[in-house]
Amino acid sequence: MISTPDIFHQFELKGWQSIAERYDSAWSGLVRPFIPSLLSAARVASGTRLLDVACGPGYVDEAASTLGAIPIGLDFSSEMIRIAKKRNPLIEFLEGDARPCALMKTLLMLS
Ligand SMILES: C[S@@+](CC[C@H](N)C(=O)[O-])C[C@H]1O[C@@H](n2cnc3c(N)ncnc32)[C@H](O)[C@@H]1O
Repeated sequence: MISTPDIFHQFELKGWQSIAERYDSAWSGLVRPFIPSLLSAARVASGTRLLDVACGPGYVDEAASTLGAIPIGLDFSSEMIRIAKKRNPLIEFLEGDARPCALMKTLLMLS
């Protein structure tokens, strides 16, 4: 039997997979203006290593990299990861789940 959280997870994943190509035109104008404040609040600077969980097309990673930081983007949508890699071939992007158990496995893999 599939649990309610799993049904929700599959619903979310299907949605992000299908919207990925349109995310840039629909959302980038809303998201990008906040990125400098986000990076400043997180004190991201040259040499900072950061894991961007639910990175989408990788805007935050791109901006962090411009500051000289070393980001890794993580997203459960293979489409988002494909687009992020295409936009930023020099940045590392991983397909992975942010839910606690799965994220712990990814963090152990990275350490
Ligand atoms: C609103 S978008 C934000 C993307 C990016 N952080 C930005 O600011 O442009 C939400 C992202 O979260 C991802 N996401 C949602 N649930 C996730 C999960 N359980 N694990 C990993 N990524 C997830 C989606 O695939 C989508 O790319």
